[in-house]
Amino acid sequence: MEDFEDSPALDAGLLSGAQAVEHYEISRYGTLIAWAEQLGMKQAVQLLEQTLEEEKKTDAALNKLAEAAINRKTA
Ligand SMILES: [Fe+2]
Repeated sequence: MEDFEDSPALDAGLLSGAQAVEHYEISRYGTLIAWAEQLGMKQAVQLLEQTLEEEKKTDAALNKLAEAAINRKTA
């Protein structure tokens, strides 16, 4: 990180790492929801769906940040 201090590459790297985490979480929550549905765990399904929506919102926010960074760089 020190090597890329004050570089757009650092922001790009951090954003891509954060999005990778969000995508992993989205896939895991999708699986957990399917399992909870199969087990008839309605309350767990509701909670997991809420969390999944939060993860998707975070991913969308990271997308906006990445797009803003690209637009800033090309302006
Ligand atoms: Fe997350």
